[in-house]
Amino acid sequence: MSRKYLIAGNWKMNTTPSESVDLISEINSLVGQQTQVQVCVCPPFTSLQMSSGLLEQSEVQLGSQNMSAEPSGAFTGEISAEMLRDLYVNFVILGHSERRQYFGETNQSVNKKVLAAVQNNLKPIYCIGETLEERERNQTLDVVKSQVQEGLESFPINEVDNLVLAYEPVWAIGTGKTATDEMAQEVHSYVRNLVVDHFGDGPGSGIRILYGGSMKPENATGLLSQPDVDGGLIGGASLNARSFCSIVQSAIEI
Ligand code: PGA
Repeated sequence: MSRKYLIAGNWKMNTTPSESVDLISEINSLVGQQTQVQVCVCPPFTSLQMSSGLLEQSEVQLGSQNMSAEPSGAFTGEISAEMLRDLYVNFVILGHSERRQYFGETNQSVNKKVLAAVQNNLKPIYCIGETLEERERNQTLDVVKSQVQEGLESFPINEVDNLVLAYEPVWAIGTGKTATDEMAQEVHSYVRNLVVDHFGDGPGSGIRILYGGSMKPENATGLLSQPDVDGGLIGGASLNARSFCSIVQSAIEI
C-alpha cells in the first residue's frame, strides 16, 4: 500500500506571532506549492490564526500541538477542537511525551482527545514512544503496545484514514541522539502489525507512522527510506525553514 509522506513541524513553545510570520512565509515559499509530500506546521496556539491566513493559498497544512477533550465550557485555559477547526486547523498532535511527562497526560486521557479530534474532523497525530529506562529494560515493544491499544481504544474504523501515529523514542527527543534506521524500522514494523491486527489489513496498512526524535537533514534520508517510516515529526530542525524544507526535499527524492 502506498502511503504519502507527511513531514510535520512541531514548533513547541517557540516563536511569537511576529516571529511565526517569517518562519511560515519562508516555509511557504520553499515548499508551499508542491504536492508530492504532505507538509504540516504546528505553531503555538497564539500563532494559529495568523498562520491560517498566510497559508490560505498554500499546500502546507496547519496543525496544533494539543487540544482539550471537552467540547466547551468551564475549562479555563483550554482550547477546543471546534475552535481549531474554525481556524482551518487540520492536524492535532496528541499525547506528545512532553505532555505526558510535564502535564500528566496518560493513554486514557489522550484517548479521549483522540476521539474528540476525529469527531470534529481533526486528524490526530498520536505520539507514542519509550523512555531510556524502558528501552534499557527491554520494555520498548510492551510500552508502545499499551500506548497503541489504550490510546486508540474505541477509535472508529471509518476514521482510520484520518489517523497518523508518531513513534518518538523519548530519549531521542531534543537530545541529538537519533534511533538508528534499524531501531526505528523495528518499532515501526511492530506498530504496523499492531494496527493491522486492530483495524484489519486494508485500513491498518494505510496508517502513516511518523518517526520523531532529533530528525534533521543529515539523518532524514536513512530514516525515511525505511519501509514503515512514513514521515517525520520534527522539533528543533523545524524552527529553521531551510532545515525543515531540506527534510521535505529528502522525502520528495525517495
Ligand atoms: P526534536 O523533537 O526533533 O527536537 O527531537 C521532536 C518532537 O518532540 O516532536
